Amino acid sequence: MGKHLSFYKLISCVCVIYILYAGINNYIIDPGAETFLRHKTDLSRELNTPSWLMVMYFHVAFACVAMASGLLNFWARSYEKHRRLHRLNGYVYVSSVLLVVLTSGYMAPYATGGKISSMGFNLLNLIWLAITTTAMVQIWKKRVAQHRRWMIRSYAFCFTNMLIHLLTFVLHEVLGIAYVTSYMIGLYGAIVLLLAAPEVILRMERERKPFV
Ligand code: HEM
Repeated sequence: MGKHLSFYKLISCVCVIYILYAGINNYIIDPGAETFLRHKTDLSRELNTPSWLMVMYFHVAFACVAMASGLLNFWARSYEKHRRLHRLNGYVYVSSVLLVVLTSGYMAPYATGGKISSMGFNLLNLIWLAITTTAMVQIWKKRVAQHRRWMIRSYAFCFTNMLIHLLTFVLHEVLGIAYVTSYMIGLYGAIVLLLAAPEVILRMERERKPFV
């Protein structure tokens, strides 16, 4: 129980800090995304900056809602004692995922790093949709344990942006690799980690106690 609670608390802290960071950075400190956009020097199609920014604002907002609502639904009491709230909040999560995927679909063709990055983001979109749909189908079939496992896999994708920037930072700032190359490696590295991390958590759970 102690381990379960402390892991949940740790993830909660990371989420709260990240949501605050994403909100402050993207809506207050750098609302024109100038730091990020200055790396887009080699795009094959012209970027309509005002439209891109508008879509990005929605993208960040729904991504933060997905992160917060998902976190709330992993709180054990939510499904043990507040089933209706869990179900309602679950639909908030799934709707937010759909809207993040939709906005991501608009931004993917303009991704930093060109075609290779675009393909990576489209792949992410497809995998996230497939995993989230599977989680929903499992609960419609009343398979609670499988639903929970697929939701853990789905929720991992809320950490996409954080992981890409973390990996890009290490590769670019620490190892001195060019920013665009670092970003592309960061993106594919993030895909691997987002798929692997839930499997590690689930395996540890099978061997010991539930973590989330
Ligand atoms: C909590 C989760 C997420 C947050 C907070 C978030 C936030 C952001 C932000 C702030 C940007 C603007 C550029 C930057 O500063 O990185 C961005 C770009 C983007 N995001 Fe997300 N995002 C999240 C999840 C996702 C997911 C799951 C996908 C794909 C399935 C995705 C796809 C994209 C794409 C395609 C871009 C444009 C990248 C580029 O222009 O190079 N994001 N996101």
